[in-house]
Amino acid sequence: MKKILVTGGTGYIGSHTAIELISKGYQPLLIDNLSNSKIERLDQIQKITGVRPEFVQVEMCDGAAMRSLFQAHPDIAAVIHFAAVLQVGESVENPLFYYRNNIVSTLNLLDCMKEFKVKPIVFSSSCTVYGNPDSLPVTEFAPIKEAVSPYGNTKKMCEDILRDTSKATDIDVISLRYFNPIGNHASAEIGEEPHGIPTHLIPYLTQTARGIRPHLNIFGGDYATHDGTCIRDYLHVVDLAKAHIAAIERQLSKKQEKQYEVYNIGTGIGYSVLDMVQAFEKATGKAVPYQIVDRRAGDVEAVYADTSAASEKLGWKAELGLEDMFRSAWDWELKLEH
Ligand code: UD1
Repeated sequence: MKKILVTGGTGYIGSHTAIELISKGYQPLLIDNLSNSKIERLDQIQKITGVRPEFVQVEMCDGAAMRSLFQAHPDIAAVIHFAAVLQVGESVENPLFYYRNNIVSTLNLLDCMKEFKVKPIVFSSSCTVYGNPDSLPVTEFAPIKEAVSPYGNTKKMCEDILRDTSKATDIDVISLRYFNPIGNHASAEIGEEPHGIPTHLIPYLTQTARGIRPHLNIFGGDYATHDGTCIRDYLHVVDLAKAHIAAIERQLSKKQEKQYEVYNIGTGIGYSVLDMVQAFEKATGKAVPYQIVDRRAGDVEAVYADTSAASEKLGWKAELGLEDMFRSAWDWELKLEH
């Protein structure tokens, strides 16, 4: 059983990926500082898979702590790096915290990989690096735009750091640029627990359907799209988790062709905010009152992925549709205590 270090392993995407790793016969070693996730995730993963993953609480910005971790686990075969702070608005208010946390943690991780000769790493990047793309669907060759937030900039900077490191060392990097992951494991045992008022669409929408919020505010109704609202490529978090397995398997089976590879991970389909509201109502039978308000600063009008590279090189394709995304998001919402 190959041991895979998963940073941010108790987070939303990390814990879904841990489940897929276990189901494929890998041994995930989860690390997290628990700043934005709970230790109970381990119970939930165990309930779903029958396996309790190994867990170490570690602050990745502490270089000595990271070294001790690698020393204690000389059998790490590969790394999946999710750990990051990720609130766009918070990053604008507190850029130093965002740069220090997301960059220093990545530098410490790479130092350890270099020293302890761990070569493969899959990095959690974002379609945010494309900004407002010039043409759609967006391919991996689209120009990288200036980031609109420190959070977005940390994703771009980490990609640069990883690319340069792959050139100078024998570390192999696959960066996955996620579009908009939503939904939860079908068991409704794990999911994202938003703190305070959600900023992302789906938790806000499910809380509105539950009556916790009076209505959904749709940010902007005058975009140049079919109904005036923004378009995104929403993908199921379980499909996203599987994309990491595909990337790790490409690396471990020595199929990676370039030392730095990058793939879009989305469905290739763009839905508007209004499309999403209607599809949610259809999938769950729950009404979502909404009002159209001003545009949100920093939002791009439309972005969805060209996923041909992921399908060709990783052999990965999104399989789950909006109905699965909404049903699982709704089942999870009903479990949450607000
Ligand atoms: C956001 C981040 C992006 C990050 C991604 C994953 C911003 C500006 N962008 O993407 O950098 O990589 O999360 O963490 O925060 N919407 C509403 N009403 C709401 C909430 C959202 O209409 O209450 C709309 C938004 O305008 C957007 C869509 O729903 O068109 C999706 O929004 P959201 O879930 O916040 O994701 P992104 O903004 O696409």
